[in-house]
Amino acid sequence: MTTLPLNERGIPASRIVLGCMGMGGSWDNEPYTNEHVKRAEAAIEAALEIDINMFDHANIYSRGKAEQVFGDVLKAQPGLREKIIIQSKCGIRFADGDIPGRYDFSKSHILESVDGILSRLGIEYLDILLLHRPDPLMEPEEVAEAFNQLKQSGKVRHFGVSNMSAGQIRLLQSCFNEPFVANQLEMSLARYGWLDAGVHVNQAASADDTFPDGTLEYCRMNGIQIQSWGPLAQGLYSGRNLDNEPESVQATAKLVQKLASQYNTTCEAIVLAWLMRHPAHIQPVIGTVNPERIRACKDATSITLSREEWYSLYVSTRGRMLP
Ligand SMILES: NC(=O)c1ccc[n+]([C@@H]2O[C@H](COP(=O)([O-])OP(=O)(O)OC[C@H]3O[C@@H](n4cnc5c(N)ncnc54)[C@H](OP(=O)(O)O)[C@@H]3O)[C@@H](O)[C@H]2O)c1
Repeated sequence: MTTLPLNERGIPASRIVLGCMGMGGSWDNEPYTNEHVKRAEAAIEAALEIDINMFDHANIYSRGKAEQVFGDVLKAQPGLREKIIIQSKCGIRFADGDIPGRYDFSKSHILESVDGILSRLGIEYLDILLLHRPDPLMEPEEVAEAFNQLKQSGKVRHFGVSNMSAGQIRLLQSCFNEPFVANQLEMSLARYGWLDAGVHVNQAASADDTFPDGTLEYCRMNGIQIQSWGPLAQGLYSGRNLDNEPESVQATAKLVQKLASQYNTTCEAIVLAWLMRHPAHIQPVIGTVNPERIRACKDATSITLSREEWYSLYVSTRGRMLP
């Protein structure tokens, strides 16, 4: 069994996380209904069934309704909160009249955001709080003040970041005494810049080299859990219509299907097993709220792809040979 960096820190997180961005309905002020709560409950049940005990939120998901419906499920099942690990994020603000959508790592915004998260979820503490996307105006001292206050009040147990480079983490960490425990980034068979960044050293640039070079290595060396958002590539290799997709996507989807039948499993399991075969111990944050698709991810934790299978998928998705 793989021991995750989170586990090394005493956080008993499962290998896979259920992302809750798809819960609570539309991203507007339309109130959520009982149907949304039932759907969230079914997704949570399916996740628990396949041994997922960690759930990923953000204060912005469905404009707070994702956390609200999750909170309703927790209220109906009083023993559940202590059995699971809840992570949420803050730092993104919606547009407000003339003021555009923006990022905000000010102390007051972080503190207010956490109060909102706890109240919507109806819980006393968050296991992990992530800063959602880097704020160019961030002041590491101010972030540290907010985090220290949240830690001392018991409202947040651990802290981390999302979509950040090694340099940005180092800057924030320089003022905060507790180690950051996670960095959540987009990583999948479709978004493979996290691999190309290493493979293309001393090579001509790749089309997908947006992944910050050295970040994977920094996180691995500092025990920071790398979490991948978008790990199923929104179903690109597990059933979505591919009529308008490029040749490399269609070929990769065929290869995923072939491996799924060889391993007698689902395409979802192969797509996640490919991410998890990487020695960084990546924790996929799956975003489906369809119970069947959640269950289809079950085998991912017990499949170990061979080097040859892993490279076949990587080269296929690149659509060209390695340098
Ligand atoms: N840190 C960040 O900046 C950031 C950004 C985005 C997301 N996240 C987190 O990461 C989680 C996962 O992200 P994601 O939702 O982009 O990842 P994903 O797991 O790659 O994709 C899930 C989405 O794809 C759809 N899908 C999956 N298989 C499908 C299929 N065969 N056919 C059609 N649709 C299919 C799902 O719909 P169904 O629900 O209908 O299955 C769902 O909307 C989110 O829930 C959130 O917690 C974080």
